[in-house]
Amino acid sequence: MTYLPLIIKTRLEEKLSKLNKLRPLPKSAVQKLREKFQIEMTYNSNAIEGNSLTLKETFLIINEGITVKGKPLKDHLEAKDHHTALVYLYDLIDKDKKHTTSEILIRNLHQIIIRETDKEWAGRYRNANVIIGRAKHIPPNALQVPQKMRDLIIWLNSQKSKMNIVELSALLHHKLVYIHPFFDGNGRTARLTMNLLLMQAGYPLVIILKNDRKKYYDVLDKADSGGYEPLVKFIAQSVERSLDIYLKNLTPAIQKQEKFITLTDVSKNTSFSAKYLNLLARQGKLEAHKEGRNWLTSKEAIKRYLKNRTRQRKIS
Ligand SMILES: Nc1ncnc2c1ncn2[C@@H]1O[C@H](COP(=O)(O)OP(=O)(O)OP(=O)(O)O)[C@@H](O)[C@H]1O
Ligand SMILES: [Mg+2]
Repeated sequence: MTYLPLIIKTRLEEKLSKLNKLRPLPKSAVQKLREKFQIEMTYNSNAIEGNSLTLKETFLIINEGITVKGKPLKDHLEAKDHHTALVYLYDLIDKDKKHTTSEILIRNLHQIIIRETDKEWAGRYRNANVIIGRAKHIPPNALQVPQKMRDLIIWLNSQKSKMNIVELSALLHHKLVYIHPFFDGNGRTARLTMNLLLMQAGYPLVIILKNDRKKYYDVLDKADSGGYEPLVKFIAQSVERSLDIYLKNLTPAIQKQEKFITLTDVSKNTSFSAKYLNLLARQGKLEAHKEGRNWLTSKEAIKRYLKNRTRQRKIS
């Protein structure tokens, strides 16, 4: 059973292998990207749960140690803690690529992101029942959490060599928030844990954008009743976005680079409307990634889409 359409799976593998071919990656450029991604993810992951800091403010707090007037102390602490968790994650990957995901590791990540805002429960499973705001799904009874977490790790280890890693990380993400083992910080912990798997496989850090919050909740809701495909596709799109940004920044200038342009610009030179291109992008049929609110693609990606479409028509 696979939830990842072949065309998307192949594309991600091709892009990852393109990135791998560039290895060893230039150290200072990689460091710059890492720092940028750490700030971006800290901002987005915290903003999804209501943290009021902007991207710029997050940057200032982490890199300059500045306190932003008028913003809650809690928001500052969450930003710092989340950033620390990312540094911890990168450290793990740098030291040992094969580090296995365990309950202890998940609890460590939770401990780090919550330690300044909810000391008592940092790294500890909940002992009472919870609900997820705005979701229909009701997480299991608190008494069942330890067993469900043990089962989750057993499941993960049994799937590691069988399932595509993007798909596996998406499913792990969902299973974690479905159990909702902690009182708070479940989403952030799940997004970090998912990234551990992806980064071990060589993918760059993957960020769920705050702008996509509605979509994110929607695909999790569908996954609650077994509809995993929208979630897997959504995560795959986020993976592709990070890959595109890494490739764009790390491909040496001598190698031909694809220039990313907005769908509106593409629509001016093709017979497709921007609306239709947007649909293709969202369905994953056209290579594209989101920057801010805009979808970006390239002329080459349009050519590949057209070629693929003709090929598929011939087959069917
Ligand atoms: N229908 C759903 N089924 C399972 N999990 C869901 C559903 N809707 C949302 N979630 C998850 O619950 C998380 C919110 O839970 P919680 O408040 O414990 O996490 P958080 O890290 O504090 O907040 P957030 O993840 O929103 O930043 C969401 O981020 C999302 O990952
Ligand atoms: Mg929360």
